[in-house]
Amino acid sequence: MEIISGFSKLSKIEKIHWLASHFDKTISSEIEQMKRFWLQNVEEQKKIDEFSENTLTNFIMPFGVAPNVMINNKIYSVPMVIEESSVVAAASLAAKFWLTRGGFKSKVLSTTKVGHVHFIWKGSKEKFISFFESNKKIWLDLLSPLSAQMTARGGGINSLELIDKTSELEFYYQIELKAKTCDAMGANFINTLLEELARLMKSDLHQLNFLGQSESDFDIIMCILSNYTPECLVEAKVDCPVSDLGQFSGGLSPEKFAEKFVTAVNISRIDRSRAVTHNKGIMNGVDSVVIATGNDFRAVEACVHAYASRDGSYRSLSQAKIENGHFEFSLTLPLAIGTIGGLTTLHPLSRLSLKILVQPSAEDLMKISSCIGLAQNFGALKSLVTTGIQKGHMKLHLLNILSQFEANDVEKESAKQFFADKVVSYQGVRDFLLASRTSH
Ligand code: MEV
Repeated sequence: MEIISGFSKLSKIEKIHWLASHFDKTISSEIEQMKRFWLQNVEEQKKIDEFSENTLTNFIMPFGVAPNVMINNKIYSVPMVIEESSVVAAASLAAKFWLTRGGFKSKVLSTTKVGHVHFIWKGSKEKFISFFESNKKIWLDLLSPLSAQMTARGGGINSLELIDKTSELEFYYQIELKAKTCDAMGANFINTLLEELARLMKSDLHQLNFLGQSESDFDIIMCILSNYTPECLVEAKVDCPVSDLGQFSGGLSPEKFAEKFVTAVNISRIDRSRAVTHNKGIMNGVDSVVIATGNDFRAVEACVHAYASRDGSYRSLSQAKIENGHFEFSLTLPLAIGTIGGLTTLHPLSRLSLKILVQPSAEDLMKISSCIGLAQNFGALKSLVTTGIQKGHMKLHLLNILSQFEANDVEKESAKQFFADKVVSYQGVRDFLLASRTSH
């Protein structure tokens, strides 16, 4: 039987044995492998285990850094956690290129977060509006002890609004709470406020009886922040005279390179198939910083793609133009991330990332992540419109292929030299290794 109760109570080793006896006996032989990834410091490992449940071991990802990233005249080395070869290299290359052309310019456009009490009200709309309006100020006052600290830090509740959604779903309304959450991502803050607000609404429901309505006409469905944050936006930009694009134009004239680049961006503004891949390239950069700093990349991903389709069609998040011989490339995206709370300060490596970034504020981190997204997008498009993506990508992927064939250091070095001027392919690497192994 593959069904078990009390799995969480088993030790890590017992869990592995259970998996082995129920799914694949060879899993048992992985125990030593699994243990190799445990941290030596038992207390530290316990902390990591407790981030989740039923933890067996740690899943290793490369933690790298893109140096020379100039943003608003300040230079950063940006931590990136990503498993895809060529992402850190492409960001580093693009950062170095823009370093001598004014660097990245970035600005936070807005920082408002939002959450909702979702509820059903089957009674009179007018009466509920009057119930809401007469209590709103009182509820805000009663919520203030929960938001006092955030208010002292410069954030807090911005607004409470009743939203009528009955034209889309019968009897459905929301109370929308907007807030600023300073350096925190803010999910806990907003969810706590929403649940308390729902409790206050319920406890004041008896007022509706005076309005000739019944309490049973009211039903709270759920209270939850929204990960869609179109009012928490950041912009990243690079620009330079077209003539300065020369060094990067892969044999094309700078003018031709700029023209092809802008056309490539415009294609992803109108074609969904291309837009998804284009935005995936942007998110290679953004996510790697979001993960390195202990932020929630699923929230960021869900939001960014909803934002990319805000006018009904899924489009590129970035834009490019040439005006009077000047090239401009920019990106606007929603990023609800933080530098305090959650994993950001709990995970030893996100703490390290924040140190490398010299303790950024949440707004700084929004700027840094968006610039790495733009750098990544620039690097990908530059390759796509010149040499093609496979040349650089497969060069870096060469090491992964060699590792799959368990190549030793000498084989790796000679493969690097052999493929320096050749197209790298899985088959080609296999043939190369076979030939060199049989000749020895
Ligand atoms: C690969 O991870 C990302 C790219 O496909 C992005 C793009 O096509 O713009 C190279």
